[in-house]
Amino acid sequence: PDQPLPLYTAEQVRNLDRTAIEDFGVDGFDLMKRAGKAAFRLARRRWPEARQLLVLCGGGNNGGDGYVVAGLAAQQGIACHCVAVSDPSKLSGTAASAFAFARESGIHVLSFESLDEGRFGALLAESDLVVDTLLGTGLSGEVRKPYAGVIEQLNASSVPVLAVDIPSGLCSGTGRVLGTAVRAAATITFIGRKAGLYTGRARDCTGPVSFDDLSVDPAVHDAEPEPSAWLWSPEAALARLPRRHPTTHKGECGRVLVVGGDEGMGGAGILAGEAALRCGAGLVFLATRGAHVPAALARRPEIQARAVEHGNDLDPLLERVDAVVAGPGLGRSAWGQQMLQRVAGFSGPVVADADALALMQQQGLPADAGQWILTPHPGEAARLLGGGVPEVEADRYQALATLVEQHGATVILKGAGSLVGAPGRTPAVIEGGNPGMATAGMGDVLSGALGALLGQGMDPLGAAITGAAWHAAAADHALARTGEWGLLAGDLIQAFGSTAGCVAPEAVRD
Ligand code: APR
Repeated sequence: PDQPLPLYTAEQVRNLDRTAIEDFGVDGFDLMKRAGKAAFRLARRRWPEARQLLVLCGGGNNGGDGYVVAGLAAQQGIACHCVAVSDPSKLSGTAASAFAFARESGIHVLSFESLDEGRFGALLAESDLVVDTLLGTGLSGEVRKPYAGVIEQLNASSVPVLAVDIPSGLCSGTGRVLGTAVRAAATITFIGRKAGLYTGRARDCTGPVSFDDLSVDPAVHDAEPEPSAWLWSPEAALARLPRRHPTTHKGECGRVLVVGGDEGMGGAGILAGEAALRCGAGLVFLATRGAHVPAALARRPEIQARAVEHGNDLDPLLERVDAVVAGPGLGRSAWGQQMLQRVAGFSGPVVADADALALMQQQGLPADAGQWILTPHPGEAARLLGGGVPEVEADRYQALATLVEQHGATVILKGAGSLVGAPGRTPAVIEGGNPGMATAGMGDVLSGALGALLGQGMDPLGAAITGAAWHAAAADHALARTGEWGLLAGDLIQAFGSTAGCVAPEAVRD
């Protein structure tokens, strides 16, 4: 559980399929039967009370999985309607075998074309569970008719949907919605986890994602030694937290400087500073406007808050610290510009967030940003890339790669399913987090956490993965008390300690 999991593109998964069949002698239809069985088993386990199933089958192999599910339901005496959304007489290969299996098991396959809309609506209404096997990894381009209409009808109904391999309409490589996509209650995916199931719009569509390796020889995966991304669970990421030896002292736990809080934006720097302390920084300085110093001290006397008015006020602080967080509430006025200019001359690791990202574009980064972590949200990423948010969200993996390439830095592209990239490294996807995090100050808390991990000696990629995962886990932990609406950035700060303790006590202590 404390290792990241490999994610693959559709093409890579096709290669895994092919390897299992051609090099490991697994029969193609047998593989499809295993997939159908795994989906059926999950349906029974998750919806044991479901009496009437509706299986919707497309014209490819994903539809083939569906015919297996329908056949198994019939064999086990569970009422099941099965609708072919494209002409089943055009099925070929293993999908055709699966269709035959369904028929032999006693399933009467209805053709969608022959159903009027009212009849399809009635089938839907009398079902307890829909199994979505319309479109899988073979989807290309925007979802066409009649699939688009079927998906819309499914989403308008309240019947729960189990998506097989991937919710129909979701792009398996990127997690973008290709026109329209099924909003499933759960998803089961096979052979290799698809990279598009964990970022972009995926969380709107998948529900919890289960994985089944279809019992293929683990060596099948040697055919794809370079996954397209790694999925980091909170357990895996938090197992990497820096450990403390019993005689450690504060000088060894990192001195962190937070630079931010221009007039009118005092809270951001304070949040970042407090988060850095709660994530283990030995000493935290906050360089902010003089007006904010009393507030910082009142809220958190452990923070060494300093009034800085000019860039050169920062120099003595920069000389004393191991890591810098620049950006929270920095603003874009002359004050912020001066501050960032000074930070650019710092030779250690730097987290650049928020306004620092905007100013960076005007002022440029240091020639070697190898020790920097940039933390754009999609809007900031779009500005850095010179495009719009829709382009970033259309392929977050690509946007991440371009940002990493452009800046030569570690980058966290934030958003449900945050991505982490670094030069020459396979990107990481961060599990966890929740919609309660869509509120002010969350980014400030993340940047403080990152500063603390850098200060404790983690390398930028490690700090970015562990910091982003810790942030998400703390938000999930705090949610129990606040609910989605009431979650505040400050609640995460309180939750960091217990989250780390709960999730990885062994790893942290041993
Ligand atoms: N709109 C409508 N239909 C489409 C679109 C589109 N944009 N793109 C592709 N199709 C149709 C194709 O015409 C074909 O009938 O979808 C079908 C292929 O889709 P899949 O079943 O996803 O592709 P395939 O490669 O056959 O199977 C892959 O099989 O191993 C299983 O479930 C697993 O997802 C995997 C699937």
